[in-house]
Amino acid sequence: MTSPHAWPELRGIAYGGDYNPEQWSRETWREDVALMREAGVNLVSVGIFSWALIEVAEGVFDFEWLDELLDLLHENGIAVDLGTPTASPPAWFFANHPEARVIDREGRVMGFGSRGMASHSSPAYREAIVRYADTIAARYAKHPAVVLWHVHNEYGVPVGEDYSPASVAAFRIWLQEKYGTLDALNAAWGTAFWSQHYAAWEHIDAPAIAPSVVNPAQRLDFARFTDHQLRACFILERDAIRAHADQPITTNFMANQSWTTDLWAWGREVDIVSDDHYLWAADEDAHIGLAIAADLTRSVGGGKPWILMEHSTSAVNWQPRNIAKRPGEMKRNSLTHLGRGADGILFFQWRAGRSGAEKFHSAMLPHAGTASRVFREVVDLGATLDRLGEVQGSMVQAEVAVLWDFESFWAQDLEWRPSEDVAHAAQVRHFYEQLWRDGITVDFALPGHDLSGYRLVVVPAQYLLSTADAENLTRYVESGGTLLVSFFSGIVDENDAVHIGGFGAPLRDALGLTVEEFLPLRESASHDVEWPGRGAFRADVWQEDIALDGAEVIARFTGGPGENGPAITRNAHGAGAGWYVSTRLDAVGMGVLMGAVYADAGVVPASRPEGLEVVTRRRGGTDYVIAVNHRDDDVELAATGVELITATDVDGTLTVPAGGVAVVRTTAAS
Ligand code: GLA
Repeated sequence: MTSPHAWPELRGIAYGGDYNPEQWSRETWREDVALMREAGVNLVSVGIFSWALIEVAEGVFDFEWLDELLDLLHENGIAVDLGTPTASPPAWFFANHPEARVIDREGRVMGFGSRGMASHSSPAYREAIVRYADTIAARYAKHPAVVLWHVHNEYGVPVGEDYSPASVAAFRIWLQEKYGTLDALNAAWGTAFWSQHYAAWEHIDAPAIAPSVVNPAQRLDFARFTDHQLRACFILERDAIRAHADQPITTNFMANQSWTTDLWAWGREVDIVSDDHYLWAADEDAHIGLAIAADLTRSVGGGKPWILMEHSTSAVNWQPRNIAKRPGEMKRNSLTHLGRGADGILFFQWRAGRSGAEKFHSAMLPHAGTASRVFREVVDLGATLDRLGEVQGSMVQAEVAVLWDFESFWAQDLEWRPSEDVAHAAQVRHFYEQLWRDGITVDFALPGHDLSGYRLVVVPAQYLLSTADAENLTRYVESGGTLLVSFFSGIVDENDAVHIGGFGAPLRDALGLTVEEFLPLRESASHDVEWPGRGAFRADVWQEDIALDGAEVIARFTGGPGENGPAITRNAHGAGAGWYVSTRLDAVGMGVLMGAVYADAGVVPASRPEGLEVVTRRRGGTDYVIAVNHRDDDVELAATGVELITATDVDGTLTVPAGGVAVVRTTAAS
């Protein structure tokens, strides 16, 4: 859906955060807006959790405080991203509609006193969210402060799957629409197995906990259904708002941290993609996970600029150990998001809350107040972003795509797979890390996308692959593309049924092989892979017995159950090549493999010091080179142009300070 406004009317990069003034006095509001101005805040998200204080009883609205707040923000030049608080229905809602509570997979009814307790399939919930969205949009559509609408909060978290009676009834209808006949459903789900055949639609249940593993095709369909129900709720609210308002409409995704939403489909429904990202503190290279999230967010939005709707100024409060950000880390995180396409940098939240479950979560204005490192860094970041306004609207360039298919991941991560060591997220990360270290910017893509613009397509694990999508990948190779496929790809079809003809059969033409048998390794086992002329590397997790059908063997296992068998192959097909790697290589092996694949694809890795992250955004003949130095020492970057944060000319070499950032405006490379 297109909106008359593709981007909120703001000056430059959007900067701000979630603002929860309902938790504070009017006096504090006035202090807030003064400090927001000091920090350069130009956009705040309001009303995301305010349902009980606006619709005070069913159908009874009190807008007095919100009227006053929006006027105050507008008078101070701060624009508003106005939320619908439908992620947290009030107590009266559950009192009036007890049947709308969520039931989890174990059959537990979710209680009140938290957030996200309502069933997305409940007719009463759907009626209530439409009433709210309609009423608030009618009231504020023309308010000059409102530049963006923020529907709900993080669909799928904390409530995604729902096993309530309303959900089961909706699941049966969804299945009838999908399959038409029970025969078609029985065939798709393979119900001849374990006597699961269905003779009536009413006998079909949600895949609740059972004595043993539940039918994986049923679980995959339930995942699709869950995504569909959540999205249907978004569409209901969006359309209710759109009936009154012209501003763009978004909802905040959790790109690589939520598994109940297929963001490719969601990206088509929002006017602007926005994302929430939090570092996983236990991950010492969490900035690489951040880069994945940013690239994925941009990709599901079709490459257009997006908004980082939430991240943290310092520690979060919900991990086992909540590690504070080090000086400069918040700015590095922000500039990485910006470099990878974000035109808005917002936080959860403006002012640290005193009460409730999130009082130990960091904020732009911490409990320590303005005389704090965090607030000084917040003011400094605001000033930095102010100088980067001209970057807004420029586009990230990528020559390499990595496949990311939520449906395949849902299926891959179900129970009773050949090895628990092949979870999809780790496989993507393994390849992405090498690309990151080689300074190569990637887009994410689906196997059915038009991939012709990419020199190289990496397939870290495409467990579920339809025949049509396999044909698309094969055509990509035929017409000159380079495809790199890892083990456990092309295994099942859309119904989680194994493809006939050997594992990976749909990619036989592209790869010149099929897989006869998986040979997963014990937990701590690893073996050597030998690549004549390039050396020997360690590899773990997986080996396999490969039936070659034209592919050239590049490297072989020298130990383990697959000894002497192919570990890396290359298949010339049409004008391109299909590479295959049947194990998890160590870092040295990945470096060598990717080097060979880049050379084959005509991709040139950047030669930069390890830990200097550089991404380019382009508009017309102008490039913006965004550099983030994750190292403890100063590094040099070859660049000519103007460094925008310091407003200094750069003539050939720019020093990026230890832990610092830089943005150079330069002439676009042809
Ligand atoms: C999520 C939510 C916010 C807040 C933060 C805390 O992203 O959207 O409301 O709970 O987490 O990290």
